[in-house]
Amino acid sequence: MMRAFLTQGKRIASFAPSSRFMARKLLDGIDWAHARSIVELGAGTGPITAELVRLAHPKARLVVIELDPVLCGRLQARFRESPNVEVVLGDATKFGEILAARGIPKVDHVLSGLPLPSFPAAARDAILETSAKTISAGGTFRQLTVMPLIYYKMYRRYFEDVRFRFVPFNLPPGGVYVCRGYRGAQPAK
Ligand SMILES: C[S@@+](CC[C@H](N)C(=O)[O-])C[C@H]1O[C@@H](n2cnc3c(N)ncnc32)[C@H](O)[C@@H]1O
Repeated sequence: MMRAFLTQGKRIASFAPSSRFMARKLLDGIDWAHARSIVELGAGTGPITAELVRLAHPKARLVVIELDPVLCGRLQARFRESPNVEVVLGDATKFGEILAARGIPKVDHVLSGLPLPSFPAAARDAILETSAKTISAGGTFRQLTVMPLIYYKMYRRYFEDVRFRFVPFNLPPGGVYVCRGYRGAQPAK
């Protein structure tokens, strides 16, 4: 992760993988008995994926998308024994197509480790719009951050309801946005 950060800083956005505390906070409150499809965008070395695999129902389909070929190869090796996980080398801005190609029209939750604030606005809009169309009723868009609360207003431009959960035990300290009720990109005030 450090190597990737040094060579492609903006796309990686963090020098260390998320802690277990971060992973737990991101996944907290998911109804594991009923969640049958979850997509993870920007999995890095897989700390969120590992917790996801541990908690998800064995019948749940978990699609994990990573753009970096080296990280993706490592993820594929790490999770090859987990039959309900598919690690895909691909661009999260096209995750609607990636899911459609696998016959998955809806997901219960979208988990994002992507550095969304540093994405071009059009790419960010595409990811959040696809999430809104893809998430089933009652589902959530969940976003990791290592800049606690700084982008709260940005997520509020897209979602009616945004809750922030602080995670002090992470390097650096971070948090999680849990978003519901997409309302389209609203202009910044
Ligand atoms: C901050 S790291 C998060 C890694 C991991 N989720 C964690 O919590 O440790 C961001 C990850 O998003 C990936 N990424 C960046 N842009 C992407 C894109 N357009 N599609 C898929 N993955 C992307 C990077 O390669 C990197 O692995």
